[in-house]
Amino acid sequence: MLTKCLFPAAGYGTRFLPATKAMPKEMLPIVNKPLIQYGVEEAIEAGLTDIGFVSGRGKRAIEDHFDVSYELEQQIVGTSKEHFLADIRKIISSCSFAYTRQHEMKGLGHAILTGRNLIGDNPFGVVLADDFCIAQPGILSQMVNLFVRYGCSIVAVEEVPKKDTQKYGVIDGEEIDRGVFRISGMIEKPEPEQAPSNLAIIGRYILTPDIFINLENQVPGAGGEIQLTDAISAHAKDNMVIGFKFTGRRFDCGTLNGFVEATNTVFEGMTP
Ligand code: G1P
Repeated sequence: MLTKCLFPAAGYGTRFLPATKAMPKEMLPIVNKPLIQYGVEEAIEAGLTDIGFVSGRGKRAIEDHFDVSYELEQQIVGTSKEHFLADIRKIISSCSFAYTRQHEMKGLGHAILTGRNLIGDNPFGVVLADDFCIAQPGILSQMVNLFVRYGCSIVAVEEVPKKDTQKYGVIDGEEIDRGVFRISGMIEKPEPEQAPSNLAIIGRYILTPDIFINLENQVPGAGGEIQLTDAISAHAKDNMVIGFKFTGRRFDCGTLNGFVEATNTVFEGMTP
């Protein structure tokens, strides 16, 4: 049963300083909704309502966001502004939230391993909220459908220009169905000449719990960090792992350009 979803959210968001000095980068709004809320909504749509955050120092605003604010409720109840709280109220009442802290920034793989106590022996989704996605149905829902069919770990991928491969994890594999690749290996942040393809990993994963064994044994890779890409690549040597070319549009909200582009796109969609 797939009900859990992990959100690594311990990073500093240095590219957005000074905005992220006292505020978690996950709380940056795309128009009027924090990035992290879009991610949680995508998880709920896919049926993943046990939400786990791997958070860190200075991230309390995330916990407060996904909790009832009694003062605010008191102020707003019965007024014309009450509808602004409708979405977040629904999220709070339909999910469970759990938090654990990553004490040191040792990479995405380390963050996922830190979240193990929130996941236990269950398959789980992973959302990197920086990768803001507009898709119908949501990318996680598309991946859950695939998980029902294959029952194995799945990473979302999209084609990127070859010159950009060093920004991503890149997969090697064989297309076994339309847009579905059986992964034989993956490389984190390869130079274009080393990249096995132009299929880059996007921040949506479904992982089976045996990935934790690979993560435990994973030595530091690119940038001296424990890379999730390396652990999944090791897992793919003995297990089926799928790369899935999703339908939809993704914005890299870890960069100013991507963030502004996402903001403009969402705003255009809201205005008549
Ligand atoms: C992480 C992953 C990388 C993936 C990327 C997607 O990198 O390590 O494999 O392609 O997210 O956004 P980061 O962006 O944290 O450097």
